[in-house]
Amino acid sequence: MNQFPNATLPQLGTLQSSRSDELNLSEPTFNMLRQFIYDSCGIYFQDNKKYLLESRILKRINFLGLNSYEEYIDYIKSHTNNGVEKKYLYEAITINETFFFRNQPQLDALVSTVIPEIISQKTGPDKYKLKIWSAASSSGEEAYSVGMTFLDLIKPKYPAIELEIIGTDINHAVVETAKAAKYKEYSIRNTPAYYLKKYFRPNQNTFELDPAVKKMVTFKLLNLYDDASMKTMYNFDIIFCANVLIYFDQKSKMKVVSHLYNALNKGGYLFIGYAETLHTISKAFKLVSFPKTIGYKKE
Ligand SMILES: C[S@@+](CC[C@H](N)C(=O)[O-])C[C@H]1O[C@@H](n2cnc3c(N)ncnc32)[C@H](O)[C@@H]1O
Repeated sequence: MNQFPNATLPQLGTLQSSRSDELNLSEPTFNMLRQFIYDSCGIYFQDNKKYLLESRILKRINFLGLNSYEEYIDYIKSHTNNGVEKKYLYEAITINETFFFRNQPQLDALVSTVIPEIISQKTGPDKYKLKIWSAASSSGEEAYSVGMTFLDLIKPKYPAIELEIIGTDINHAVVETAKAAKYKEYSIRNTPAYYLKKYFRPNQNTFELDPAVKKMVTFKLLNLYDDASMKTMYNFDIIFCANVLIYFDQKSKMKVVSHLYNALNKGGYLFIGYAETLHTISKAFKLVSFPKTIGYKKE
């Protein structure tokens, strides 16, 4: 991890009155901050995203009562705070957009092809054990969409399957939302009426997920960029890692994808987002086409 040169603190008091909207994120400080973020989680803020980082960190600076971005860097680097503050930094900088049934063609591919194929190739006592990982699960909608699809369209055909679904994200706040499984209308906007009626209970302004689906998924904090954490994830049959690689640069994409490859069983599949591709990132997978989507198979 890069060590920053000691940032110069502003004269005490000089910025006190200008706290809030008027702090300036200088070019050198922006570079230090984005390097720190990149080294810790692989997210890379391009030059044209400076304003985004600036406004997101400003909220944290105000909350902490600090006077400048330089003070924030010192704060996050300080021995006692490192680790704790990172948790809030990740909460501040990540984009957690997601919704139920965001990628229906991928779910269709699971039902029509991927799961039947995987089950047919497994042998031995674990033949009917299936492990699915929603990596960068945000507030859980993707993982729970897999759960509902499984209950309705896969379990009836393969009653012996024991499915384990794990959802992970770097942002502790969204992991807690996922565990609570109570959603706003925004999250269910793309949910087929059938699933909405069957698996959600409206309660004031929220939609509470059926406990039968909720208990299918285990959520935990995990940084996809952290080698040690990634080594704890293995033996997966299917991994969804959608709409997160776009925040990484080429080098961090390659590192994360190679960990995902290692985490998959032979014959397993990786699915990424609509707008993403592994072209130039990895040649290890076989590209498999399905109606309106593609999957990356580990052969
Ligand atoms: C746009 S959401 C995608 C959610 C879901 N996969 C989907 O496609 O709907 C991206 C998620 O990636 C998470 N994320 C970003 N960097 C990460 C990292 N290094 N490790 C784990 N999760 C990360 C963010 O916290 C965010 O919740």
